[in-house]
Amino acid sequence: MNVSGRPTRTIWPSSDGLAVEIIDQTRLPHAFVTARLASLDAAAHAIRAMLVRGAPLIGATAAWGMWLALRADATDAGLTQAHATLLGTRPTAVNLRWALDRVRAAVGRLPANARADAARRLAVEICDEDVALNRGIAAAGLPLLQTIAARKRSGERLNVLTHCNAGWLATVDVGTATAPIYAAHDAGLPVHVWVDETRPRNQGASLTAWELLNHGVPHTVIADNAGGHLMQHGQVDLVIVGTDRTTATGDVCNKIGTYLKALAAYDNGVPFYVAAPSPSIDWTLRDGLREIPIEERDARELSHITGRRSDGTVATVALLPEGSAAANPAFDVTPARLVTGLITERGVCAASAEGLRKLFPAP
Ligand code: MRU
Repeated sequence: MNVSGRPTRTIWPSSDGLAVEIIDQTRLPHAFVTARLASLDAAAHAIRAMLVRGAPLIGATAAWGMWLALRADATDAGLTQAHATLLGTRPTAVNLRWALDRVRAAVGRLPANARADAARRLAVEICDEDVALNRGIAAAGLPLLQTIAARKRSGERLNVLTHCNAGWLATVDVGTATAPIYAAHDAGLPVHVWVDETRPRNQGASLTAWELLNHGVPHTVIADNAGGHLMQHGQVDLVIVGTDRTTATGDVCNKIGTYLKALAAYDNGVPFYVAAPSPSIDWTLRDGLREIPIEERDARELSHITGRRSDGTVATVALLPEGSAAANPAFDVTPARLVTGLITERGVCAASAEGLRKLFPAP
């Protein structure tokens, strides 16, 4: 997508060919800053500390991290250690394991001196593939928005609610949940997005809002608790969210709070769609609630908040009384029965084993 008029991805090889560069997402929306990753440790830190985040981008960064690691140590032991280090960074998004396993399988059968170059080629391929998958999601999701818009009075806005950031910042480019939204906006539909702020890290308020603003998509940031009220009053036409891990049966794990939105949508007859590129499907799991590991993050993400002062400087301040405990589960699982459909790169399907198998007979 464009940043200040320049086409920009979230991750790219540095011009000197020695490192990889990323947008440091911990600095948005107040500053657009890039960071250089030149080692396995730097890549692992970027994922763990969420300089990069979002399931597809975590996978892409891990693939680049394998290249960085293999440049330093391409032995079998080095390969195993790189895979284990990166896999340990964040537990929930299955794209991480998907990308790491793919690189390990491809380079593991090569002689050590060929491994780093092969990993680099694969990292480039994984990034380009991600963009293509997201374009597929845009194409598959656009008709859903067009159909709902066609039922509305001429010129009446089409209200989409989204949670967290499943936009281009969460991927290499284009985004998943936002892909059909951008497509609808670009096609001239009067789309408007309700952006859940997404406590505690505020990926909606900080990242999705920044993205939509940059692309000129009308949007309004709302407190996480406002969605149900808006749905009760007919102000949400559909919900589209992303996913960090979708089971083979269509259960969906996404940012904490997604489940509550799905419940409210169900109660109000609002369609609830999940944009699910195939690398985020975990074909080994059938019961999301019991089987998906939920990341527990530092309580400080809840107890403190970062923002811009009126003089333009950025500050972090405490929110809680000193001494209060805080818990920070980062994801929740929305059972398939609450999901209207999965928007994949191959089309829209029911959130069920049968629905997924129709689109992916041999994953
Ligand atoms: O903790 P984050 O910011 O990595 O969580 C991101 C999300 O929950 C996204 O919705 C999900 O990764 C899908 S991204 C296309």
